[in-house]
Order: sequence, then structure tokens, then C-alpha cells
Amino acid sequence: MSIKVYVPIDSGSVALGADDVATAIAEKAESTGADVKVVRNGSFGMYWLEPMVEVETDHGRVAYGPVSPDDVDTLFASDFLTGGEHKLYLGRTENIPFLKSQTRLTFQRCGFIDPVSLEDYRKYDGLTGLENALKMTDEEIVTAVTDSGLRGRGGAGFPTGIKWKTVRDAPADQKYIVCNADEGDSGTFADRMIMEGEPFVLIEGMIIAGLATGATKGYVYTRSEYPAAIRIMNEAIEVARAAGVLGDNILGSGKVFDMEVRMGAGAYVCGEETSLLNSMEGKRGVVRAKPPLPALEGFLGRPTVVNNVISLCSVPVILEKGAQYYRDFGMGRSRGTIPIQIAGNVKHGGLYEVGFGLTLGEIVEQIGGGTASGRPVKAVQVGGPLGAYFPKEMFDTPFDYEEFAKRDGLIGHAGVVVFDDTVDLMKQARFAMEFCAIESCGKCTPCRIGSIRGTEVVDKLARGEDPDLQIELLTDLCETMKFGSLCALGGFTPYPVMSALTHFPDDFKPRALDVAAE
Ligand SMILES: Cc1cc2nc3c(=O)[nH]c(=O)nc-3n(C[C@H](O)[C@H](O)[C@H](O)COP(=O)(O)O)c2cc1C
Ligand code: SF4
Repeated sequence: MSIKVYVPIDSGSVALGADDVATAIAEKAESTGADVKVVRNGSFGMYWLEPMVEVETDHGRVAYGPVSPDDVDTLFASDFLTGGEHKLYLGRTENIPFLKSQTRLTFQRCGFIDPVSLEDYRKYDGLTGLENALKMTDEEIVTAVTDSGLRGRGGAGFPTGIKWKTVRDAPADQKYIVCNADEGDSGTFADRMIMEGEPFVLIEGMIIAGLATGATKGYVYTRSEYPAAIRIMNEAIEVARAAGVLGDNILGSGKVFDMEVRMGAGAYVCGEETSLLNSMEGKRGVVRAKPPLPALEGFLGRPTVVNNVISLCSVPVILEKGAQYYRDFGMGRSRGTIPIQIAGNVKHGGLYEVGFGLTLGEIVEQIGGGTASGRPVKAVQVGGPLGAYFPKEMFDTPFDYEEFAKRDGLIGHAGVVVFDDTVDLMKQARFAMEFCAIESCGKCTPCRIGSIRGTEVVDKLARGEDPDLQIELLTDLCETMKFGSLCALGGFTPYPVMSALTHFPDDFKPRALDVAAE
């Protein structure tokens, strides 16, 4: 039997040279007559070790990384095909501390399987949640999701079960499940990673959402910058359709659900659910006023569940192992696990899934290993471009929706971006306003005009023009944007701005900002 060698196909790994490594291994195997089958798997999310190559041996999967094509000769010479020692030897994959210390419920198979092999997916208990759901009533499924305590992982943290109940209870001839895979937040990649590494779990979650709400059609809306995710999702959908997992007779149950992938152009605001629906309908990506809620009048005016990728991917394990099992992880009202994405200036950047409750300091310093530059951490931005900057003094904040909100921060899509002491927080505050100005859909004044005035005020502050007045103006402007904006783009931009001003006042001294060069 061929020896299986795993080389990730995930775009993060490909960007680091995984395709060349896969080719080099296949060529070397051929030239040496070794019977090797190169399997392209998803990433485990340990990006500082990518491309991480694994070999299936008698004593489990053994990992090496980060591998470059130049290492392939010495790997073969070191008998890596039987798990031999080598300078890049990492031991058994599951024992790598970063992976071993996680609680992987949502990402449980990501990395272990060939993303488009339904056989692999089933081998690791995939589709058990769906099989259980098919034996339940729609109401029972909604109750299980509600009882699990699952809250939307897209940013707002809205209880998923309540959203599903609203759609289930809405009378309509057609309902939809829309998966929000726009993933615009800076430093986030969980949606991409799971779509590229374990697409069947998203398909399974969407079918279960359909069974729970009476929706028979689903869409995955993602961005043009995610071509590999689009390709892999489409391939997996075809495999699922051919196997009778999707279509007119789901696993022989007579139930109906089908889905397709839709691609957006990559506007940040198109991740906002109503703007996303407009984009899907072929309209300009402008935010819609609420009410009506998308749950009642969503895609094409029909009741629609809009859920983030990770919310939907968390559903199969809830149906597989039960609501109580899931809600036993976490703290307070933040139940279950959260795939934290650690990025920026950090030694061990990657995806770390764990129950809610770790402190920010544990995430950045213990798991992330501190900065990649070796300089002291100065600030951490959590929750994407609309998230607050936290100083080290706030490292005791537990990763929990309410605890972050209490400190004027947010978890968002769980992106954690680390900065060392060379960061200039006045520049970051200006950048937040500029980002809002560029990405604003233009529908409401506080955001459309306020963000431009915001950059001007920061510029005046930098030039030393009446600093006290500018700080008063900036604070007032942030209040107006926070309370007067129609959606969270304008409404949350004050978080990075005000946190920078509050926690790093020394950075707001007059000086040349040097922003034109960027
Ligand atoms: C400007 C803006 C951008 C957003 N971008 C995303 C996104 O990329 N992905 C996402 O899932 N939710 C995003 N959201 C949140 C969605 O509007 C919505 O709350 C979410 O898709 C609901 O799914 P959930 O309940 O599963 O989190 C964004 C919101 C705003 C205001
Ligand atoms: S806050 Fe900004 S993005 Fe949101 S609706 Fe208003 S103008 Fe559009």
C-alpha cells in the first residue's frame, strides 16, 4: 500500500510554498521508486510551521515543518517515510503542544482529512449530526441549537437558535439559508480555513439549518479574494450532491436541500448581512434599514437565516453530541468553543480553538508566544478593524462577549492582531477613520461624512493645531458615529479610535504622521 504524505492545500500554506513542496515530494518519490501518495489536506492552522508535511506511519501521523522544496532530499535521506529523525521533525501531529492543548469541536477534522473526500469525512464521524437531525422535528433541532448556547460567530454574538426560530415560525413558500463567508475582518481566516480544509462540515451545518427552519435552498456568499475556498466548496457540493447528501432526497429521507456558492467583489460592508443580501440580489452593496429583519424579509424578500461560517460549522457537533456537551465549554453567556485567530506581529500565528474564557494575555503570550520581532507587546486589536486596541494592562480580560463589552471592546470574529512597541496608535486611529471612509456604503451621514472629518481631526491633532479642541471634537464625533450610524461600520469605528486615545494618550502628541507613504 502507498505511503500517505500530507501536504496542505490551504491557501495560507500554498502562499508559503506548499504546492512546490508537494511537487518536489512527488518527483523525488518517483525518481527513487518510493510508493508514495501525496494527499492535499487542510491546514491545522499552525502557520509558523507551514508548509507542514506529515507522513502516515505505523505509529500515527508524524509531522515535519516548515518544509521547503530544498529540504525534500534530506527528508528522504532521513527516512521520513517511516517517521525518521530530521531537523524539521515535529513528532506526532496530535502531540504538537499548540494543537494538543486545543479543544477542537468545530475544526475537529480540519487538517486530518482530504477536504473533498466524503469517505474521509465519514470516517471521522462526519454526517452523524445530520443523521440525528433527520430523526428530529424542526422544533427539536431549534431547541437543541438554542440550548447549546451557540451565538453567532460573525461578530454580533446573536443567539443562533433564536434566529432560527424566527425563520422557522415565519410562514412563506420559500425560505433561505445564507452563509456569510465574506470574512472581511483584519487578521481573520477561520472561515477560509474551514472552507478549504473541511467543507463538508459547512454543508452539513447548512442542511441542518434548512431542516430546522424549512429552508430548502442555501447560498455561501464569499469574496473573490478566496478563489481556493470557492473551488473547494464547489467541488465538495458536487460530491455531496452525487452522494445524495444534498438534493431532493437527503440521505434517503425524502427531505430537500441544495446550495451553491456566490462570489462578491470583496467590499468590507458586504459582510454586513443586509448589504450582503443586496449584493446577492445583484444590487449595490448598501445597508438596508432594519426592520424588516432578514429573518422575516431577507433574500428576495423571503425569510432568511444569515449565519457566519463558523456558526453553521458549529451546529453538526451540537447535533452529534448534544446541546449540553457543547454548552459545557465556555464561560458566562459565551458557551462552547471559539476558533481564535492569532495574527500580526506574533511568534506563533495561527488558529487556536478553545472554550471561551482564556485571558487575552494567555492567548497572546502563552499561545502566541509574544511578538515575532522579540520586542515588547504594546497593543492588541481584537475583533477586526472595528475592534478596540487593548494595552497590556488589560491582558487579564477573559475571552468572552460580555467581558470584552464591559471594557469597551468586542470579540467580533475572534481575530487577535498583535502589535509591538513600534506601533503608533495615533496613526492607527487615523487608519480606522480612513478605513471607515473608504469602506462606508454611504447610506448614513455620521459614517459617510463623520469618518472623513475624523481623519481630518486626527491630522490637525498631529499638526498640533489646538490639540485640546481636536480631542474634544474627536470624542464628540465618535459619540455621534456610535449612536447615529445605521450599522456597525460607522457605529463601531469609534472603538479603535477611542481605545487608542484612552489607553495610549502619549501617542497623540503633535508630530509628522507619515501616512502618505502607506
Ligand atoms: C461592516 C460589517 C461587516 C461585517 N462582516 C461580516 C463578515 O465578514 N462575516 C460575518 O459573518 N459577519 C459579518 N458581519 C456581521 C453580519 O452583519 C451578521 O451579523 C452575521 O453574518 C450574522 O451571522 P451570525 O449570527 O452567525 O454571526 C458584519 C457586520 C458589519 C456591520
Ligand atoms: S454606518 Fe456606514 S456602512 Fe453602515 S449604513 Fe451607515 S454609511 Fe453605510
